[in-house]
Amino acid sequence: MKFNYLKFEKRDKIGILTLDRPNALNALNEDVFKELTGFFNDKETIQTIRALVITGEGKAFIAGADIKAMQEYSTQDGYDFSEIGKGVFDQIANLEIPVIAAINGFALGGGLELALSCDIRVASEKARLGLPEVNLGLIPGFNGTQRLPRLVGAGNAMYLMMLGEGITANEAYQLGIVQKLAKPESVLEETIELAEKIAGKSPNALRLIKKMVHQGVELNFKDAGKMESKEFGRLFKEDQKEREEGINAFLEKRKPNW
Ligand code: CAA
Repeated sequence: MKFNYLKFEKRDKIGILTLDRPNALNALNEDVFKELTGFFNDKETIQTIRALVITGEGKAFIAGADIKAMQEYSTQDGYDFSEIGKGVFDQIANLEIPVIAAINGFALGGGLELALSCDIRVASEKARLGLPEVNLGLIPGFNGTQRLPRLVGAGNAMYLMMLGEGITANEAYQLGIVQKLAKPESVLEETIELAEKIAGKSPNALRLIKKMVHQGVELNFKDAGKMESKEFGRLFKEDQKEREEGINAFLEKRKPNW
């Protein structure tokens, strides 16, 4: 698949997807979203990788939705753009492999919202993260008002959204938005290393962990627990291949071969 605003490369079992619109700090417009949709729909490519790293070209991860493109939007245009973005970010959340954001620089507005739809976030110590929409008379439109409070609680999310100033990577780490800090020059390499470690675990268990976490937050505690028991049970007879290999490998004191 040929892209204008994305680059994709594979390092063994790890896919690296780079937003490549550096002149606009990788801002998200409809064309970028179209390409992202195409990429995430390409099941053949995705089947060849065990984890995906998403990063940005140049000094930004993504500086948000494209402000220039939104200037003349109608009500319907705004609604549609919000729905398109949400659809793409849901594709990330629903991928059956781990997705890790390598936040190399600014992750603002829609850029932070994209990172929030990933499973784990690694950030350069020099990155700046925030939801500055309030400065433009806007609100986050790609589920930021929903994903951020689920991750860090309503108070922290309100603080970020109402202040609109952005925070350092270290502050984002303290809040739990970012799970790992990296040196600016090695953020991508360190994220790939983390992706490789995770990709060495049971792919089936990784798929289920992701499903339990994403679907669980939509359910009440009891129903979410039932869903977990059901999947846990299935690992013993219906969905047992990797569980058998994992337990056998442990008992035989060898590395599992998934
Ligand atoms: N949309 C479109 N273009 C953008 C952009 C954006 N979100 N962010 C940066 N750019 C463009 C700039 O206009 C500039 O283009 P020109 O060279 O043609 O003038 C180029 O990228 C480089 O940017 P700067 O010169 O501003 O770079 P800087 O280093 O001085 O500042 C920055 C960097 C602080 C990130 C600044 O660019 C900035 O504040 N960007 C906007 C951030 C923002 O408000 N994001 C939220 C967008 S709204 C949103 O995302 C809504 C939603 O949830 C749906």
